[in-house]
Amino acid sequence: MTLEQEIAKRRTFGIISHPDAGKTTLTEKLLLFGGAIQKAGAVKSSKIKDHARSDWMEIEKQRGISVATSVMGFNYKDIKINLLDTPGHQDFAEDTYRTLTAVDSVILVIDCVKGVEIQTEKLMEVCRMRNTPVLCFINKLDREGRDPFDLLDEIEEKLDIKVRPLSWPISMGKTFKGVYSLYEKKLNLFTPSKVTVQESIEVSDINSDELDKLVGESYAKQLRADVELIEGVYPEFNVQEYLDGEVAPVFFGSAVNNFGVRELLDTFIRIAPPPIPRETTVREVEPDEKKFSGFIFKIHANMDPKHRNRIAFLRVCSGKFERATNYHHVRQHKGIRFSNATAFMAQDRETVDEAWPGDIVGLYDTGNLKIGDTLTEGEDLMYTGIPSFSPEIFKEVVNMDAMKSKQLEKGLLQLMEEGVAQLFTYELGNKKVIGTVGALQFEVIQFRLKNEYGATVQFVNQNIYKACWISSTSEKKLQEFIDSKQRHIAKDKDGKLVFMAESKGWLQMVQENFPEIHFHFTSEFKD
Ligand code: G4P
Repeated sequence: MTLEQEIAKRRTFGIISHPDAGKTTLTEKLLLFGGAIQKAGAVKSSKIKDHARSDWMEIEKQRGISVATSVMGFNYKDIKINLLDTPGHQDFAEDTYRTLTAVDSVILVIDCVKGVEIQTEKLMEVCRMRNTPVLCFINKLDREGRDPFDLLDEIEEKLDIKVRPLSWPISMGKTFKGVYSLYEKKLNLFTPSKVTVQESIEVSDINSDELDKLVGESYAKQLRADVELIEGVYPEFNVQEYLDGEVAPVFFGSAVNNFGVRELLDTFIRIAPPPIPRETTVREVEPDEKKFSGFIFKIHANMDPKHRNRIAFLRVCSGKFERATNYHHVRQHKGIRFSNATAFMAQDRETVDEAWPGDIVGLYDTGNLKIGDTLTEGEDLMYTGIPSFSPEIFKEVVNMDAMKSKQLEKGLLQLMEEGVAQLFTYELGNKKVIGTVGALQFEVIQFRLKNEYGATVQFVNQNIYKACWISSTSEKKLQEFIDSKQRHIAKDKDGKLVFMAESKGWLQMVQENFPEIHFHFTSEFKD
């Protein structure tokens, strides 16, 4: 197969949702369709439920599982699908943000009872930053949910994206009859079942009596009225608008009942984008360029503390990746070679000799790679769009064992490279502050520093609202700002300047007083 053909048959995507909306269940059903697993219940949930807050050792166990399920590759109708898992627990949101940089599209799952929830809003903000195409699956139609029109309005309003239903539910909850495909003009009748898949019935004219016979007179009447309204209110579905991230096509179904999932998957493989060109610091790289390039979006520490090797997740962006080949490590300006590379096919890991754009490869690394690193065949370019986001909780790290400061230094560096949290080092006094999205990470960091590096630390709460990366078109003004706010200036892991704002109000005031300084909530920005 040619490079172009390999690219055309790949779909790399992630599923996002608020915890409990049905992401794990949908993943499992997709894997069943792909033949990657044989029976329901085979996918171990990689989610960490809220109760794990007190029992966070569970996380360490989960981390073991989540390597295996981090990337699930499977074939469906000659399409190679790479599904990238994202942690459901909100404390690990940063991990999810980064994973979203490696996908070409997403499926968003929404619970029809709960509607759009907070975590969904945050994740969608990240998708919008890169105009990622979004396909929406409204789940749990077997329950008494909200009115479908209200749900669509809520998605448009809260997620700031236009929607276009491609299927429509006929009632819901106890009287749920099924789903009508507006796209294919087919009716899919609902029978609760975890295994069988109902064949759709062709109903080319919803005004025919046939519909009344299938779903009953009153539901048929309701469907006709709904369809008329939809056709009147929503413009015709335009695939290009979906690909541009402007319109999200919407499907309704019930993942646990395997209902509406096949329709979703069939449409997905038809309209979702294959690997697309990507921006770098130098130029845009096309996936069909002959030379290999890719970037690291995730690093996973080995579970065995005796072996400090890690798995770095590489997204192939162009050309063909080959095992045991010399590549150029752009940040370190040196050659790097991987004799051990892993592909992820469903839950099995197997050695991979070659991989194509859209594929994810696991590289065994002894400390050379960090998140955001680019590998090429020689060209000096770095993939962009893998920013750090401002954390929400900040604590100072205090070393409790002066004899172990070297170990602490090393441990912190490595944990930060894995992306467990972000480290900010103050210009004044070398104070080190760790920032995270969730409280859980502090327990993880404390435990791992002790267990893997022998360092003992404590954390001291910091009164910080946001870390703002700062820039200015005037060097002089920037220096003046730094001089006047020295106590609040730190550097991030890459040495970029950060202003640690104590409160929202104070930040606003500082912004007004220093109009020449630009404040950014992500580490990557254009002035
Ligand atoms: P998540 O990964 O997004 O967190 O959600 P997950 O798939 O684990 O689903 C959360 C709960 O919702 C599960 O129930 C799951 O069975 C249920 N669920 C998923 N799809 C549907 C659906 O279409 N209809 C209904 N009624 N429920 C659905 P649980 O009780 O938390 O777990 P379990 O014991 O069923 O596994």
